[in-house]
Amino acid sequence: MATNDSADSSKDFCDEFYTEDTIAAFEKLNGHGYIGSQGKAMTEEMAPLLSPKEGDKILDVGSGIGGMAIHLAKVYGADVLGIDISTAVIKVGRMRAASADLGKGNVSFDVADAMQANISEGAYDFVILRSAFMHFPYDVKYPLLEKTFKWLKPGGRFLLNDMHSVIEHDDLALQNHMKNRHWFLLPMEKILQYLKDIGYEVVLLKDRGDDYVDAIGKEIADFEARKEELSKDAAVKNILEDTHSHWKWKMEWAKKKAFGEHYILAEKPNVQLAQPGLRKSREILQEAHRATSEPRDARRPRGRSRRACTASQRELEAAGKVIACARNGKSTSSARASFLHPPKSLRRKDKESRRWIFRFLFVTG
Ligand SMILES: C[S@@+](CC[C@H](N)C(=O)[O-])C[C@H]1O[C@@H](n2cnc3c(N)ncnc32)[C@H](O)[C@@H]1O
Repeated sequence: MATNDSADSSKDFCDEFYTEDTIAAFEKLNGHGYIGSQGKAMTEEMAPLLSPKEGDKILDVGSGIGGMAIHLAKVYGADVLGIDISTAVIKVGRMRAASADLGKGNVSFDVADAMQANISEGAYDFVILRSAFMHFPYDVKYPLLEKTFKWLKPGGRFLLNDMHSVIEHDDLALQNHMKNRHWFLLPMEKILQYLKDIGYEVVLLKDRGDDYVDAIGKEIADFEARKEELSKDAAVKNILEDTHSHWKWKMEWAKKKAFGEHYILAEKPNVQLAQPGLRKSREILQEAHRATSEPRDARRPRGRSRRACTASQRELEAAGKVIACARNGKSTSSARASFLHPPKSLRRKDKESRRWIFRFLFVTG
């Protein structure tokens, strides 16, 4: 199935790719409630990272047929909304949710393209994007991540689980296969840069590396062991065969490190970082801390006293307090005062600390 890589192509691809038969076949392979690879196993690994409280609101973007959404409702009592661009997928998701015992939790589904979905800002404790980011063309990846940030409450967390590119191979067959599967993979550094630029703080990063190759190997072995039984259903036989050869292809290229798999947990800071100055100031502070955490002698210019270095460090700590106050929603005025008017003994003398301080004051206004 040839596809183009424009933002509008997702709907065409998903409508053609996710049919009643492919969904049935993928669910046979990936487990009840899952059309994505490593369905239940990855849910069991990642759900504890979220550990939502009862009633927490979760948005699952590209939810598929709802395996993870249902798990979070059933086990934690969360209130989950799954959105997916595919009508066929959502139809099955609704059936799976209706037949599940959700306990105190709740699951609902909407057919929606994440890029156009009408979702309230600041409404969710968690946003999940699992095995779906790869399907979003390059030109909408950053805007999509920005949307996830907007949908979260301050302090809310974003779970991203997907594949990423590792080594660029200019093999044409590889490029074509990825295109046919509507895969648009970014390198990990780019994903992290996007998250940082948007204002997320990365809390956890797991690059699954060799675990990923092992996981594909297990899926292939499991399929081969059950092949006869699974293939009795004529409607899915060809799809299973096709998926089997796709997995083998995936294994071969994962070993050559064309791509890998990761999950990232990132937090929307608990402060209105919409003020760009404050966000920028935090970056400057981090940079300053990095600079000052080098070995003292390495960073102390000739002729600069140890005392001046100490003063510089103390001033940075005061700047840190300003940010900490803002993060906790407290007034920053007293912390700013101690930053602006340090004790006489700590008055800045050296150029380096003056530079940081001017930058800090400039961006915090
Ligand atoms: C590989 S499946 C993963 C499903 C599920 N998250 C899982 O792990 O089982 C990718 C899903 O992303 C959905 N999807 C792709 N592009 C989308 C878009 N623009 N908006 C919403 N869903 C999208 C597809 O329809 C598909 O159900």
